[in-house]
Amino acid sequence: MKQVKCVVDKDFYVGTAGTELFSSFIEHLGRAVYNGIYEPGHPQADSRGFRKDVIQCIKDMQIGLIRYPGGNFLSNYDWKDGIGPKDKRPVRLDLAWKSIETNEFGIDEFADWTKECGAGIMGAVNLGTGNPKDAAELVEYCNHPSGTYWSDMRIANGHKDPHNIKVWCLGNEMDGPWQIGQMTSDDYGKKARETAKIMRLVDPSIKLVACGSSTTRIPTYPEWDRTVLEHLYEYADYLSLHRYYENEGNDDDFLASFYDMDSFIKTIAGTVGYVKAKTRSKKQVFLSFDEWNIWYMQNQTDHPWQKAPELLEDNYSLLDSLVFGGLVCTLLNNCDMVKMACLAQLVNVIAPVMTKPGGGIFKQTTYYPFVQAAGCAGGKVLKTFVNSPEKETPMYGAVPGVQSSLIYQEEKGVITLFALNSFNNDSAEFSVDLRSFGEVEFLSHSEMSGTDLHAKNSFAEPEKVLPREAMTMPVVDSAGKISVVLPPLSWNTVKFRVK
Ligand code: AHR
Repeated sequence: MKQVKCVVDKDFYVGTAGTELFSSFIEHLGRAVYNGIYEPGHPQADSRGFRKDVIQCIKDMQIGLIRYPGGNFLSNYDWKDGIGPKDKRPVRLDLAWKSIETNEFGIDEFADWTKECGAGIMGAVNLGTGNPKDAAELVEYCNHPSGTYWSDMRIANGHKDPHNIKVWCLGNEMDGPWQIGQMTSDDYGKKARETAKIMRLVDPSIKLVACGSSTTRIPTYPEWDRTVLEHLYEYADYLSLHRYYENEGNDDDFLASFYDMDSFIKTIAGTVGYVKAKTRSKKQVFLSFDEWNIWYMQNQTDHPWQKAPELLEDNYSLLDSLVFGGLVCTLLNNCDMVKMACLAQLVNVIAPVMTKPGGGIFKQTTYYPFVQAAGCAGGKVLKTFVNSPEKETPMYGAVPGVQSSLIYQEEKGVITLFALNSFNNDSAEFSVDLRSFGEVEFLSHSEMSGTDLHAKNSFAEPEKVLPREAMTMPVVDSAGKISVVLPPLSWNTVKFRVK
């Protein structure tokens, strides 16, 4: 059995894990919107065409913000196509995903839908083919109370109250050659700055997210981030990070994805610090990890032009959920800098929730670690000192074999330990001294593990992979030391109550 030692003190924490850390993303892509969240005629659809079963599932996820409308789609999207009477809205080619966009669903429908889900909105403005004026008009349409052309247009379209969208992304992945309107970091920095200025003239209370590197694998990383920040430091509130992981053939590398994500965050946090010092700024720019997930990138354009093609419908395995859990820990452990993080995406497209047109839904394996962590929103992520035995990986060298995070929800008096044991053949005994909390009692230990790492949920077997109660009970000694056994290759959620 491997031995992992962890030291914490209740007065020392990284930061608070706000609800925005458990955000997600809906793009006009594949069946995310059409035949996903919006399916008029479905037996579960309400009068607006929103599937109530999907809404319930998303409500249960306790999502903070939902990013919309893209993604790559954003960079050639005209938001004005998606407002007003539905039968007058133009049908367009979506060039990002080779799809037919009917525009039946736009910003007003999205605002109504997110309200039903109990989530807020992270808006996004097109900086590919769009311009600063379009962006300012969108903010006016959404946030200005009344009495102007665009705010009165919103009211005429049935929305008397402003949508009040407080967070906006300044474009999407503008460093990527795949992006419509890709730019150099200097060109993007200047365009984004001018866009930020005009958007803030409309609504000074908004927060803005500048595009950071769209992956660590792009040659411009991390120089892109430095340059963009030098143009935008005083105008942006957040810099974005995007990163998807897939199994590239070696399970140990894949399981160590958390390690890669951590070094990405630390590099960008350092870059922010550098620019802050260089520009002599007093303000702090934070990070928005607004696209993260596991994604097996198959061919995305090998299909005829059609509405809502089945795209990026990855089916996640038990192994994927373990990797996912490791990533969740990394986001939590960096919540001093990463204030927002969007699981990309939410429904049907690389998603935790899958729907069948006219039929039911099922929850993917990755749904569970997300929901377990989102249930701890508002808690303090404790500063941990963890001494985990290491594991050798071909891609990253030696990495900790156990990745963990501890979060304290003071009002509830509950401490939650999240832990991924990535040792293939060894259990790990995780010992943590909780003496500073006083007396604690064990509440529950749920684990995801199993012999078939490739097991997946599906419409036929929706509950094949689920978290289940652990077989062993943690030992809590009278001095407040806890020892939890983490089975080989497992994701664990262990709860204690402070007495
Ligand atoms: O989430 C899928 C795609 O991944 C998004 O459209 C894009 O921003 C990223 O490359």
